Amino acid sequence: MKYAIVGTGSRHQMFRSAVAETYAAENDLVGLCDLNGHRLALSAAAVPDPGGNGIATYRAGEFPRMLSEQKPDTVIVTVPDDLHHEYMVEAMRAGCDVITEKPMTVDLGKLKAILDAQAETGRRVTVTFNYRYTPARTQIKDLLMSGAIGKVTAIDFRWHLDRVHGADYFRRWHRHKDRSGGLLVHKSTHHFDLVNWWLGSTPETVTAHGARHMYRPETGDAMGLVPRGPRCHVCPSASACQFRMDLETDEKLRTMYLEAEEEDGYLRDACVFDPEISIEDTMQVHARYRSGALLNYTLTAYSPWEGLDITFQGTEGELTHRHVEVHGVFGGQREKAEGRESMRTVLHRAGEAPEVLDVWQGEGDHGGADPVMLGYLFDPAVEPDRYGRGSTHVDGAWSILTGIAANASIERGQAVGVDGLLAEHGIVLPC
Ligand SMILES: NC(=O)c1ccc[n+]([C@@H]2O[C@H](COP(=O)([O-])OP(=O)(O)OC[C@H]3O[C@@H](n4cnc5c(N)ncnc54)[C@H](O)[C@@H]3O)[C@@H](O)[C@H]2O)c1
Repeated sequence: MKYAIVGTGSRHQMFRSAVAETYAAENDLVGLCDLNGHRLALSAAAVPDPGGNGIATYRAGEFPRMLSEQKPDTVIVTVPDDLHHEYMVEAMRAGCDVITEKPMTVDLGKLKAILDAQAETGRRVTVTFNYRYTPARTQIKDLLMSGAIGKVTAIDFRWHLDRVHGADYFRRWHRHKDRSGGLLVHKSTHHFDLVNWWLGSTPETVTAHGARHMYRPETGDAMGLVPRGPRCHVCPSASACQFRMDLETDEKLRTMYLEAEEEDGYLRDACVFDPEISIEDTMQVHARYRSGALLNYTLTAYSPWEGLDITFQGTEGELTHRHVEVHGVFGGQREKAEGRESMRTVLHRAGEAPEVLDVWQGEGDHGGADPVMLGYLFDPAVEPDRYGRGSTHVDGAWSILTGIAANASIERGQAVGVDGLLAEHGIVLPC
């Protein structure tokens, strides 16, 4: 299979090495495309054995030419979230399948454009929901599929982002709601996708509240970070700031962003206390699913630790799962939690003692998810997946609809019906 990648920033590296290295025997990387020539050249230089003239590279405006010259079977889309739809639609119309990073897109207008192009062309869209492939999360699917707690009636789900990872969404394009959909779309797309997949259901009604408590000018002032610069690189208070990002000393950040910024003005380390930030850092959502299950969900982006806590109530018992990914941030450094002690899953069936389960483990990024997912994406010999972890444009759509409805609920101050939102935009989706 022939693949081309558009968007050669941080995330594309995983796909590039999967196609051009891990699964190179079965696949060809035929082109790379980006707005920024520096990042494009950096990526091309990292492709091992690219053939005689090296890997073909194209600037953003040359994307149609890349498709016509290189004729990829599949285009991998790893540009910022608000641009996914542009490349997805163009690729499908040129006869290509698409693999896109999450969230599939950020608002209903762009969602309609993707769904219309898919319906017109019949091309295959895959949204890379790597969290489904984390072995511990697949185990939850396995337990729920086996009826371990009967019919799921209620879920309490909390996701904590720490002060390094959480802060990162307030430094660059993610911090603009129109570019990322806010964290309820950008980040929670993973979490709401997990819930949809675990339940085998879709959201019907959503109520939400959201606020920004940490990443605001008042917090910087209260921390004595005065005066501040527009970015860490030139900030007179940087050495005293616990959120400082040092682009100079981190080789990857320096080469990929600092040395590339002259071309397009993309600042990787803009101040997390900027008044221009328009996304929330504290969000709560209540949702009702078509299966009848109820969801309570909390996301914070400045927690002292990173990880998740989830409890499922069912007609025959309770299932709890806790995963500590990062114990804490000490002197700006994240102390990652590894191995069996970092995860705990307890099955408590009604009338029986609670059972602490042996949690399924894996190696690699996102709790062992990414290598498993890449196998399913790029290894033609992979076995069929009994957990149905591959996700289509329909899964991609449902995964953002809870967040889009939650954003609408925050704005309108009332509960929002998902079907009503879809109808307003002329979108028809299978449930
Ligand atoms: N599944 C996951 O766990 C995960 C993790 C990280 C990022 N992501 C997703 O991957 C995508 C990319 O994120 P990232 O962190 O690599 O961002 P990034 O900013 O590091 O990279 C984006 C790249 O797109 C390029 N770009 C910007 N505008 C463009 C345009 N008009 N045409 C072509 N190229 C353009 C930029 O120059 C940059 O090289 C996002 O959708 C993000 O949500 C997913």
